[in-house]
Amino acid sequence: MSPHLLSIDPLTRDHVDHLLRVAARMEPIAQRRQVTRVLEGAVLGNLFFEASTRTRVSFNAAFCRLGGSVCDTTGFTFSSMAKGESLYDTSRVMSGYCDAIVMRHPEQGSVAEFAAATHVPVINGGDGPGEHPSQALLDLYTIDKEFARLGKKLAGAHILLTGDLKYGRTVHSLIKLLSLYDPMRITLVSPPGLEMPGHVIDRVVSRGHRVEQRDSLACDFSDLDVVYTTRIQKERFTEEMSESFAGVSQDFSVGREFLNARCNNSTIVMHPLPRDSRPGANDLNVDLNGDPRLAIFRQTDNGIPMRMAIFATLLQVEALIEKDLRPVRWFVPERVGVDDAAR
Ligand code: NCD
Repeated sequence: MSPHLLSIDPLTRDHVDHLLRVAARMEPIAQRRQVTRVLEGAVLGNLFFEASTRTRVSFNAAFCRLGGSVCDTTGFTFSSMAKGESLYDTSRVMSGYCDAIVMRHPEQGSVAEFAAATHVPVINGGDGPGEHPSQALLDLYTIDKEFARLGKKLAGAHILLTGDLKYGRTVHSLIKLLSLYDPMRITLVSPPGLEMPGHVIDRVVSRGHRVEQRDSLACDFSDLDVVYTTRIQKERFTEEMSESFAGVSQDFSVGREFLNARCNNSTIVMHPLPRDSRPGANDLNVDLNGDPRLAIFRQTDNGIPMRMAIFATLLQVEALIEKDLRPVRWFVPERVGVDDAAR
């Protein structure tokens, strides 16, 4: 595997299967039953030049749970980029301080440009509308775990990706990742103008998958295994686009009614989050809270073992994990969320 994780493109199915297996071995640590210090002494640089809660904090927490320490910077205002520093200079400087770097940046290709100037492993935490490979890996890990629980298989599954498929970077990475596996049926539903880029669809089709594109959710999804919904990425719109898409998202909102009327009892609902829960936002509906089909918080929890697996693999310590375990000594609740099933 390359020293960096910038895109799904260079990954093979073997790489991905290896990451899924390492993530599963991280579960006792991620679930706070065991402690490891395998990255003791290592320092992560977490550079976030765009809004983030879970990606930034979960990369941070994953590194800490492996025994490392984290230095971070958020936003351009408080970084030297506000003084005109180049990605090349920032990359070289950070490489002298850190053993791994996670970067999120509003421009597509920027994280790859940053990574080209260093031998220290760099992880793309989201480059504008480009890719978000660690999110896709944790999404696949979630689908894998949910399917194991439900006795389902990925081969032949029916997966619906909906919302902003043009600017949503998580779905770009996820569909590429799914395409490495045995043929499945993938339905894409987005508002006109926000469709998945054609070159991405072509690649998935060329690998033998059946891809259907629609502009409405008003269809029969009774054989659906996963609905993966995304937020309309308004921050990437020009002013003109904001006007033409005003109110459009309401027809693409997934909630209890859609799930009960059009899907089935084992259709799982995923979303990379954040969902916009403000009244009238028309994102994934909060009326599904507490419904066992809503997998969004199991999905966010899965970010920790998968990001630990990514660090352990890039920093080449995955073989040492079990050698270093000891039990946790602090109080850990049986369930972390009020609607959670017991672990
Ligand atoms: C997403 C992102 O930033 O691409 N969030 C995330 O990292 N989980 C999705 C979004 O912002 O809509």
